[in-house]
Amino acid sequence: MRDADEHPPQPAVQRGAAEPAAPPPAHTEPATPSEAPSGPGNAPSTAPPSAPEPAAASPQPEPDAAPHGEPEPVEYADEVVAEPAGMAAASDPPSQSASVPADHAYSDVEREAVYRVIRERRDVRVGFRPDPIPDDVLVRILEAAHHAPSVGFSQPWDFVVIQDRDTRARVHDIVQRQREAYARALPGARARAFSGLKVEAILDTPLNIVVTVDHTRGGRHTLGRHAQPQTAAYSAALAVENLWLAARAEGLGVGWVSFFSERELARELGLPPHLEIVAYLCVGYVEEFPPEPELSLGGWAQRRPLAWAVHREQYGQRGLPGEESTSLLDETIAKIGPLNQRAMEEARERQSRMTKPPGSLGVLEEVSIQLAGLAGECPAPIPEPASVAVFAADHGVHAQGVTPWPQEVTAQMVRNFLNGGAVVNAFATQLGAEVTVVDVGVIEDLSPVPGLLPRKVARGTADMTQGPAMSRIEAEYAIEAGIEVARDLVAAGNRCLLTGDMGIANTTASAALISAFTGRDAAEVTGRGTGIDDAMYAHKVSVVRTALQVNQVDPADPIGVLAAVGGLEHAALAGFILGAASLRVPVILDGVIAGAAALAAVALAPDARLACIAGHRSSEPGHAVVLEHLGLRPLVDLDLRLGEGSGALLALPLVQSAARALKDVATFDSAHVSQRD
Ligand SMILES: Cc1cc2nc3c(=O)[nH]c(=O)nc-3n(C[C@H](O)[C@H](O)[C@H](O)COP(=O)(O)O)c2cc1C
Repeated sequence: MRDADEHPPQPAVQRGAAEPAAPPPAHTEPATPSEAPSGPGNAPSTAPPSAPEPAAASPQPEPDAAPHGEPEPVEYADEVVAEPAGMAAASDPPSQSASVPADHAYSDVEREAVYRVIRERRDVRVGFRPDPIPDDVLVRILEAAHHAPSVGFSQPWDFVVIQDRDTRARVHDIVQRQREAYARALPGARARAFSGLKVEAILDTPLNIVVTVDHTRGGRHTLGRHAQPQTAAYSAALAVENLWLAARAEGLGVGWVSFFSERELARELGLPPHLEIVAYLCVGYVEEFPPEPELSLGGWAQRRPLAWAVHREQYGQRGLPGEESTSLLDETIAKIGPLNQRAMEEARERQSRMTKPPGSLGVLEEVSIQLAGLAGECPAPIPEPASVAVFAADHGVHAQGVTPWPQEVTAQMVRNFLNGGAVVNAFATQLGAEVTVVDVGVIEDLSPVPGLLPRKVARGTADMTQGPAMSRIEAEYAIEAGIEVARDLVAAGNRCLLTGDMGIANTTASAALISAFTGRDAAEVTGRGTGIDDAMYAHKVSVVRTALQVNQVDPADPIGVLAAVGGLEHAALAGFILGAASLRVPVILDGVIAGAAALAAVALAPDARLACIAGHRSSEPGHAVVLEHLGLRPLVDLDLRLGEGSGALLALPLVQSAARALKDVATFDSAHVSQRD
C-alpha cells in the first residue's frame, strides 16, 4: 500500500537525518571513504574476478564455463578462502608456519586428526545400523562430553541415556507432532522439500542421549554466570559438541533432535523441574558419514563462506586475516559480472529443439536463456524456493502533504504483513513463497516476531525538500542491510528473490530518484499513488522538483543520489538487488519503488541488470520510464499499483515455468516428433 486518498496529511515526526535509531547501528565508517564517488565507472565490466569467494548457493560461473554435461564442481567459498590449515583436505596435512613458535603444538599428524574430526563431524539421520554400542565406547564419549568447558567450572550438565524402546516410541510421537506442526507452517516449495527430509532417528538408533542443563549448578556465586545466565546452557552445548566429536572419532553417528516442546519431553523423561533439556541426541553406528551437511547436499541451506562471518576490529569491516579489509558493498560489486554466454547459447539451442514451434514461448524463452546465463548452466535450476523481502521505512517528505495516508500506516501495514493479512501474504501463500519483512527505517519500534528482520538504520528519513533525506553513511548502511538480507535468504536455500516495499510517501521519493537517474522531468515520472486528486498531484510534482533543486544530485554518484532523495527502503532494495546479482540468483522486481532502487543498483554495477526480471508494469508513470531506461520487459501488465511485492509475486510462476519448460520439455529427437518441412 502506498499513497492514497481520503485521510488528511499527518505531521511527520521531526528528526535529524543523522539521528540513529535506538540502538544505533553497530557499524563503523566503511573502509572506502564515503566521499569517493561510486559511479558506474567503478563497476566491473568483465567477468567476476577469480576471487576466492564464489556464490554461496550456486557455482560462480566463469563467462565461459564447462560444456553441458560436465557440471562444474560447486566450490563452497569457505573451502576456497583461507581456512585454518587443518581444515583443508585430509591428504593435505596442516603445516606450522615457520615464524610461529610451535613448542606446544601437536605433531602434524595429530593436528590433522583434530581438524579432520572437526571437519568430518556430521549430523546423521539416515543409514544407522542396529549394532549395540559397547559400554566402554559409550563411557568414552560421555567422558569427552564431561570434559567440556563450563561457566565458573559449574559443569551444569547431566546425561540421560535412553535405551528402552517404549520410552523412545513415546518421544518419537512427541517429535512427530512437532514435525507436523512445523510442516504446516511452511510455504509450498519449502513444504515439498521438507516432506523428503528426515529430522530424527530416535527409533533407528540403539540409544538416545539427553543432555540437560541445571541453571543453579555451582551455587549462587558461580563465576561468570551472574551477568550472563545463559552461559549455563552454552556450557551444556559445549558438552554436546565434545560428545559429537568423540563419537565421530569412534565411528558413531549422532543426530541432534530439537523438534519437541521442551516441558512436554521433560515430563516424559521425569526430569526434575529445575533441569532443562539442551539436546536430544540419537547415537549409533552408521553405514557412512555424509561428506557435507545433509541439509546442504539436499539444497535446503548452504554453508556461508567464512569471509561473511569474519569482521576486523569492528563489526562491518570485512576481510579474513591476511587479506585487505574491504567494504561489503565493494566486495559485492566486484562479484557482479556478465551472463555466461555458453550456457545462454545452449539454452537458445535447446529452445530451438524443444517440441514446440521455435519462439512460440515468446518472452519466456528469453527468461529461460537469462536464467541459464545467470546460473552458468543449462538448464538453469528451477528458481524455487522463492522469498519476497518487503523492505519497510518511513519518509520525512511525508510532512509536505504528498499523500493523504497517515505516516503510522507504514508500521501498521508491517504488522499486517507479519500477521499474514496483506495481499503480499495471500499471493505468497498461493504461490508457495516465503515473506520476510525487513525494518530498515520504520519510525515506530516493532516488537520482535518471526519473519521480521530488525535492520533499522534510522527512524525514517528527513524531509528531502529541506536537505538530504539521509546521510551518506545511512544510505550505505541501508544498502549493506539489503545485501545481507539477500545473502541470508540465498544461504537459507532460496533460489529466487523478489522485491517488496512498504513506506507511506515512497512514490514521492521514487519519482525523485527516477528523475535524478534518468534525467526525465518530475512531471513525467511522478504518479498519483493510489489515487490523489489533481491539487495534491500538482503539489507532489512540485515537491519532487524542489527536492531535486535543493539537493543538486549527480547521477554518477548513486549513493549520493540515494542519500539525497531516496528512502531507506530504496537503498536497502538497491543492496538487495546487488546481493542477488553477486550470488547469481534471479531477482524479480516489483513496481515503481523497486524500479527506482534498481536504477541505483545498476548505476553502481551495470551488470546487476542482468539478474533482474521485471515482474510487472505498474500503472505509475515513473515505472514505464524505469523499464525503458533499464531495457526490461515486464511479465505481467494488470494495472497494479499496490507495491508490497504483489506484482513480483504474480510473475513468479511465469519465471519458474520458463525454467521448468527448458528443463523438462522433450526435444524433437528424444520424443521422436517430426519437425516441419
Ligand atoms: C541446536 C541444534 C539443533 C538441531 N536440531 C535438529 C533437528 O531437530 N533435526 C535435524 O534433522 N537436525 C537438527 N540439527 C542438525 C543440523 O541440521 C545440522 O547440524 C546442520 O545441518 C549442519 O550439519 P552438520 O552437523 O552435519 O555439519 C540440529 C543442530 C543443532 C546444533
